[in-house]
Amino acid sequence: MEIDGYTIDESRLPRHVAIIMDGNGRWAKKRKMPRIFGHRTAMKAVRQAITTASDLGIEVLTLYAFSTENWKRSAEEVSGLMSLAIRYFLNEIKSMNDRDIRVRVIGDISGLPEKVQEAAHKMLADTADNQGMVLNLALNYGGREELVHAARKMAEAGLSPDQIDEAQIEKYLYTAGQPDPDLVVRTSGEKRLSNFLLWQIAYAEFIFDDILWPDFDASCFYKWIVEYQHRDRRYGGVK
Ligand code: IPE
Ligand code: IPE
Ligand code: MG
Repeated sequence: MEIDGYTIDESRLPRHVAIIMDGNGRWAKKRKMPRIFGHRTAMKAVRQAITTASDLGIEVLTLYAFSTENWKRSAEEVSGLMSLAIRYFLNEIKSMNDRDIRVRVIGDISGLPEKVQEAAHKMLADTADNQGMVLNLALNYGGREELVHAARKMAEAGLSPDQIDEAQIEKYLYTAGQPDPDLVVRTSGEKRLSNFLLWQIAYAEFIFDDILWPDFDASCFYKWIVEYQHRDRRYGGVK
């Protein structure tokens, strides 16, 4: 397929793409605007990433929206982000259903403000029967928290040591049953994971792009897919 000048092999698409959407604050700062203005503008980029991934036929898209460490930010920024999340969950249900997208929230939902939890549950329930792309929104998500949560659940289930193996642990992750990310992209030029999907990214390909998240558009996504398709994935073997 030729699109926007990029040649994409549709038979070798990543099944799961995960994005660390970073750089909203710096984008706003460059414009002498408050950080929340960057987050608000970023919502357009979020919509664009979702439509682009679903149009391409990606099976799972994971977007890192709020980490377990992001509570360290000012009360004003945190509440601004929470309000955006509520508005997003309530306003985007129709567009998710139009595209047959099933929304999941990954992370410690119970640690979110009540109103965010309610809006998230509505979005989850109203899209639960959709059969198209799965959209994981990582909210109050931390890779370490996810592993602690999984270990606790396994203990609660009374699993014996010999029952615990990689496949069993996978069943207790927030992403249970989903393919691992093939491609992880981080925008804004930072080259770190910031506690994202620690278990699942064991064999992911990484792309670090300097673009600030609010500037993202569909052509960035195509460029990343092309770069991904040039990678040689060996999984420890020899080719
Ligand atoms: C990413 O943008 C969005 C969230 C973490 C919620 P940032 O807010 O981290 O933007 P920078 O990194 O400060 O530019
Ligand atoms: C990672 O970005 C979290 C999200 C994009 C939601 P941060 O901006 O919070 O990460 P650090 O602080 O640069 O590591
Ligand atoms: Mg950041």
